[in-house]
Amino acid sequence: MLTEFTVLNSDNYKKSIDHAAEIIRNGGLVAFPTETVYGLGANGFNEDAVCNIFKAKGRPHDNPLIMHVSDLDMAAKIGCLTDDFYKLASMYWPGPLTIIVKKKECVGDAVTCGLDSVAIRMPENFYARELIKAAGVPIAAPSANTSGKPSPVTALHVKNDMDGKIEAILDGGPCDVGVESTVVTVCTDVPTVLRPGAVTPEQINDALGNVALDKAVTQMLPEGEKPMAPGMKYKHYAPSCKVIIVEGSKSVEYIQSKLKADKDAYCMCFEGEEVLFDRNIVYGKESDSLSLAHGLFSAMRDADVMDISVLYARCPQKTGVGIAVFNRLFRAAAGNIVVAE
Ligand code: TXA
Ligand code: MG
Repeated sequence: MLTEFTVLNSDNYKKSIDHAAEIIRNGGLVAFPTETVYGLGANGFNEDAVCNIFKAKGRPHDNPLIMHVSDLDMAAKIGCLTDDFYKLASMYWPGPLTIIVKKKECVGDAVTCGLDSVAIRMPENFYARELIKAAGVPIAAPSANTSGKPSPVTALHVKNDMDGKIEAILDGGPCDVGVESTVVTVCTDVPTVLRPGAVTPEQINDALGNVALDKAVTQMLPEGEKPMAPGMKYKHYAPSCKVIIVEGSKSVEYIQSKLKADKDAYCMCFEGEEVLFDRNIVYGKESDSLSLAHGLFSAMRDADVMDISVLYARCPQKTGVGIAVFNRLFRAAAGNIVVAE
């Protein structure tokens, strides 16, 4: 299949988005920018098209998709919207927050993988919302990467994974946030964050006065135990080399000794630390978790095409947006953390 690639700008976007919306309405797949990561979209009401998303990504069949909407009316068509839902939506939509509610009958099993709930998000990215509006249907979309690879934060990342497998890619420039949306369920007694993102647990607590963090966010679950978000059980977001997170007061010395002993080992470090590590990939500022979120997946994709034996990652702060960065690293490392004290 020939994949169309279109760079969006303020002059051409209307025509290009109308064309992409037509592809979606006709059952095709279109990758599009959002403020978090690029999405791989299909008409959320077309079961065959949704199945093709799983094929293009090589995605496991028990991992449900997020429905992207352009307004609250569209959300009300697919989900049973509760008070908690409206509190969250009024504070953080449009934006990097996905809310899980009970689904309505019109949402098919291909999207939810048979669950009775549906994940809904109204993205903030202008092109994303124009595309959904023009399509006139909710767009089912996971991140537009091959399953298991780091999520794409530029259209080129998408092209590397999806060229020849989907109808079109819309290039809206690099994504602002750089990690996927926060996923919160309001179906449980206590609203629970299943995946952390740029909307922090603290901010959800501000809206609802109550929030829990699913333990799969910061721990590897024992064999056989199912996380509430099926996606959180997979080793994920990983470059092809081994990743080890290093934390503790002696982290720098520990990584330096590892780099000395193995000339193919690298450090994924903070800005300003390049002088400390002979072989390094910088992913952002230690004091600014948003900059780490922004740089993380590009750094991992860079690592992916280099000949690296082990990538030792400096550990981000585990507060605010830092918990989202830590969660992605933790999954890339398959839970592998060293404490150097
Ligand atoms: O920022 C984002 O959320 C991006 C952009 C494209 O919007 N999308 C994204 O989708 O990250 P994906 O498919 O890569 O991740 C969706 C996560 C998965 O962990 C999945 O298991 C979970 O949301 N999920 C979806 N529907 C769910 C449901 N009904 N119940 C529990 N978890 C659900
Ligand atoms: Mg994903």
